[in-house]
Amino acid sequence: MNKETLKKNLREIPDFPKPGILFYDVTTLFKNPECLQGMIDELYEIYKDKGITKVVGIESRGFILGGALAARLGAGFVMARKPGKLPAETIEETYDKEYGTDTIQIHKDAIGKDDVVLLHDDLLATGGTMAATYRLVERCGAKQAFVNFVIELKGLDGRKAFPENVEVTTLLQL
Ligand code: PRP
Ligand code: MG
Repeated sequence: MNKETLKKNLREIPDFPKPGILFYDVTTLFKNPECLQGMIDELYEIYKDKGITKVVGIESRGFILGGALAARLGAGFVMARKPGKLPAETIEETYDKEYGTDTIQIHKDAIGKDDVVLLHDDLLATGGTMAATYRLVERCGAKQAFVNFVIELKGLDGRKAFPENVEVTTLLQL
């Protein structure tokens, strides 16, 4: 996927959710058919030969491409959700966010020891949300785990949140 096309279609909203923050709105990438297909195609090319058995998408903006990619890869899809949303037994991790603290949960039986997992979300800011989700996947004993984001905010150095051996890919670096 052409990075300039992605950049051109990404909406920027100044002072959201609070003054001084420039918000990158991926809904405009999801809305554009060329961008939506292009991102799925690019992700498929990166991960098609990795033996991925489960894609974990993080609520809520990680569900969109996560689900599409899982179907394309012939993998299962697992939801990482905010507290109180999943109906069966869960495990959880709490983490620091750009604007406070938060907790993320997955079903305890969502991932097993034979799974090769791709964790996906729309945006790498501090990396806190994804690092917590990565810990959940590790606790499930997954064989291997890869990490992907659509957008990486380079200035925040979010890659530091992951162990060095974790392969992290991003489609657009800002
Ligand atoms: C945003 C974004 C990522 C996360 C990135 O989600 O979609 O999930 O924050 O921040 P981090 O790298 O500092 O952890 P948000 O919690 O705003 O929820 P949403 O996806 O449901 O809009
Ligand atoms: Mg999110």
